[in-house]
Amino acid sequence: MAACSSGAVLAALGVLSICAVSGSGPMAEGETGGEAGWAEPWDGAVFRPPSALGAVGVARSPGPSQPGREEAVDLPVLLWWSPGLFPHFPGDSERIECARGACVASRDRRVRGHSRTRALLFYGTDFRASEAPLPRLAHQNWALLHEESPLNNFLLSHGPGIRLFNLTATFSRHSDYPLPLQWLPGTAYLRRAAPPLQERAEWRRRGYAPLLYLQSHCDVPADRDRYVRELMRYIPVDSYGKCLQNRELPTPRLQDTATATTEDPELLAFLSRYKFHLALENAICDDYMTEKLWRPMHLGAVPVYRGSPSVRDWMPNNHSIILIDDFESPQKLAEFIDFLDRNDEEYMKYLAYKQPGGITNQFLLDSLKYREWGVNDPLLPNYLNGFECFVCDHELARLEAEKAHAASPGDIPVPEPHIAQPSHMDCPVPTPGFGSVEEIPENDSWKEMWLQDYWQGLDQGEALTAMIHNNETKQRKFWDYLHEIFMKRNQNL
Ligand SMILES: *[C@@H]1O[C@H](CO)[C@@H](O)[C@H](O)[C@H]1NC(C)=O
Ligand SMILES: *[C@@H]1O[C@H](CO)[C@@H](O)[C@H](O)[C@H]1NC(C)=O
Ligand SMILES: *[C@@H]1O[C@H](CO)[C@@H](O)[C@H](O)[C@H]1NC(C)=O
Ligand SMILES: *[C@@H]1O[C@H](CO)[C@@H](O)[C@H](O)[C@H]1NC(C)=O
Repeated sequence: MAACSSGAVLAALGVLSICAVSGSGPMAEGETGGEAGWAEPWDGAVFRPPSALGAVGVARSPGPSQPGREEAVDLPVLLWWSPGLFPHFPGDSERIECARGACVASRDRRVRGHSRTRALLFYGTDFRASEAPLPRLAHQNWALLHEESPLNNFLLSHGPGIRLFNLTATFSRHSDYPLPLQWLPGTAYLRRAAPPLQERAEWRRRGYAPLLYLQSHCDVPADRDRYVRELMRYIPVDSYGKCLQNRELPTPRLQDTATATTEDPELLAFLSRYKFHLALENAICDDYMTEKLWRPMHLGAVPVYRGSPSVRDWMPNNHSIILIDDFESPQKLAEFIDFLDRNDEEYMKYLAYKQPGGITNQFLLDSLKYREWGVNDPLLPNYLNGFECFVCDHELARLEAEKAHAASPGDIPVPEPHIAQPSHMDCPVPTPGFGSVEEIPENDSWKEMWLQDYWQGLDQGEALTAMIHNNETKQRKFWDYLHEIFMKRNQNL
């Protein structure tokens, strides 16, 4: 323990500057406002996942008045256990003003055991059950932010993993603070006009393939490369990333994989030469959709997509993308793409959502309209600050409910526990992109990955049987095993 006791740290927290939670976030640079800011030409940067952000947050000047100097002593404290994500600067603590009232956000781990520290906030990608702050304190909620690929921490995609938490912000619409459209700035991003079809026909004549593939993260649980390799037998694909590469991007800057996921104008101009983009997510989970899906739509290309099984719910209309899983085989898919490639009228139907009134999916429109956080929008909080306030409001409500119960225990029951559910990160066990598990050779990297990395702890033969028969009982056994290790550790402390 450091020389300073937690009480002293909390006293120090009493001196805080006021912070408006809806101030400009880290991704707001250079943007001028609202949807208008996204009009053509597109040159903004889509929100980068927080892990990629260096210093998060911006300096804020203290407000005109400083109420709460004394008051701060009573405020609930929210402790960011993943300090790199702490969305304030400078300092380790900040008073935040939310809808229900104020809290203190801190990244000073010395406050962890304090009775006023009501919630611990974790970042999913960093979370390791073996490093979790144990034993858990009964008065503290655990809040999980995990908007990134489930691939980064598969533990959380399974019941025992996700149920460790009370509050979640994930890509799933079912999470407490949902972030499914984190890569979609707004409808204007989708409506951007497509380049003329003649231009693309010209590129085709010059030898470009109908399909683009740009992927440098190979051998992922979604088994995408095996699928694309098979597809390439039936239709030309220009592949520029490290996976299955057969062409080079024109300049070294564009070849840099750091450029590949950005909204670099030169890169976008190049990619928009293609009529179809292969868009395969690195993991298959409900509502997990990334720039791989939205960017081709922005560029007026048709995504050939495999990813979120619930992707239809989010599309601008019912005829805007090609779903790989609708096709019996890669060959059948190739035939269909070839058909569209030769039929401009049929092809253009896929871009109808760019016409006025073309976005007919009310669920999508409402989700964009009513979400309270923004992507690159200086008028709205970023979702780190947004989630922090969500947790603050939740804790203020919980405190109130506890007080009410204490005042009349006979009439008012103890507040119900709130526990995260598997639906907050719904990722079915991966299946091969095509063919059956038995047909895949033992030395295939996808199979090796599942047998060695993710299925450690289960006998490899058992793991294989579980995959082949999709035996849920056995799969659960694996996750229960991980959970058990965690619980033992919790008890021993
Ligand atoms: C798509 O939407 C159109 C217009 O709303 C409708 O007529 C059509 O039946 C729909 N198609 C499918 C496959 O749902
Ligand atoms: C938080 O979740 C745990 C399960 O992981 C549960 O035991 C606990 O009661 C929950 N706490 C609250 C305050 O809801
Ligand atoms: C897997 O094994 C086959 C035959 O034993 C061999 O031809 C192939 O190159 C191997 N593949 C890899 C990725 O090592
Ligand atoms: C799944 O595995 C369990 C445990 O090994 C076994 O008892 C059960 O029969 C299996 N179910 C199927 C459908 O194979």
